[in-house]
Amino acid sequence: MTVVRAVSTPNIALIKYWGNRNEELRLPAADSLSITLDQPIVEVVVDQAEQFSARSFDPDSAERALTDKESKRLEKHFLVVKKYLDTIGTTDVFPASVSLEIRSKIPESIGLASSAAVFSALAESYAGFVAQLSRRDVSVIARLGSGSASRSVFGGFVAMIAGEGNVLDASYAEQIAPEDHWKLWDVIIVPSLNEKETGSTEGHALARTSPLFETRLREIPRRQKTCIEAIMQKDFEKLQKVAEEDCLDMHAVMASSTPSLRYLSEETHRIIRDVEELRAREHLAVLYTTDAGPAVHLICDELALLSVRAYANARQNCTIFEAGIGSGSQRI
Ligand code: DP6
Repeated sequence: MTVVRAVSTPNIALIKYWGNRNEELRLPAADSLSITLDQPIVEVVVDQAEQFSARSFDPDSAERALTDKESKRLEKHFLVVKKYLDTIGTTDVFPASVSLEIRSKIPESIGLASSAAVFSALAESYAGFVAQLSRRDVSVIARLGSGSASRSVFGGFVAMIAGEGNVLDASYAEQIAPEDHWKLWDVIIVPSLNEKETGSTEGHALARTSPLFETRLREIPRRQKTCIEAIMQKDFEKLQKVAEEDCLDMHAVMASSTPSLRYLSEETHRIIRDVEELRAREHLAVLYTTDAGPAVHLICDELALLSVRAYANARQNCTIFEAGIGSGSQRI
């Protein structure tokens, strides 16, 4: 096998991953839980090569030059993957070096981080060179590039298990329920993009400077358990309460870290208030959640979808994007 292709998609967390116990190995400080989306898609092609190289292409197939930081991150990931495969005794079949092509269908304007989709697709491709890897191994390889990428290896509802200790595979993802378990939607409202925010990698490293972080770590096991129960019971109200509680708590940690990280814009807060009102007025199964940026994800069930979509489309100066639940990274 010399060329391996794979596709993957982003995921949206309901219990957020924020903060590591080991920054270098991207070992999270706590468990997290997400829904894998069915779009937008990122495709990667990995080819054996003499020397490491990486190229990236936009949704319209135009080449986008990678920054030095992005290239270094991709190369560092490749090297740590080799190291991991060595520890499990599979490097003999793995290429000495590779050339990567990353084709992202994620429009720049929707402001969704592509790292989860990119590193899960890469993990899937790397795994294609090594026949006997488990899905858990693939999620570990994805995590070594981007923590949340480990969750996009699986479809449906996915937990990232923090684990213990500092070995490379101490933390991994596992599926809680498949994509057809519960038909939910994510309507994403992206307020017009402002200046570049602090990236997640830099943000994770600041989590411990927040006086609220220790309390957050104590609360997460209960929230994770409640979230899993809500998903298994398809109890939307329970899911909404715990997901919103965790989202607001993560943003409180971010805002109280040094330096303070404020990712939510005034428009974000306005949308959150509107959605609370809309939910109360029309008794809709809809919840909001936000990551390290001003975009608001409105997760809703099929009955609520038309109203949520109509609300989103009526927002001025926002980009709207819609996704269903996806099946995770796959080789093609
Ligand atoms: C706020 O996985 O993007 O979206 O490992 O540095 O790539 P890196 O971090 P990343 O962190 C995700 C942060 C979050 C919450 C979440 O998705 O759980």
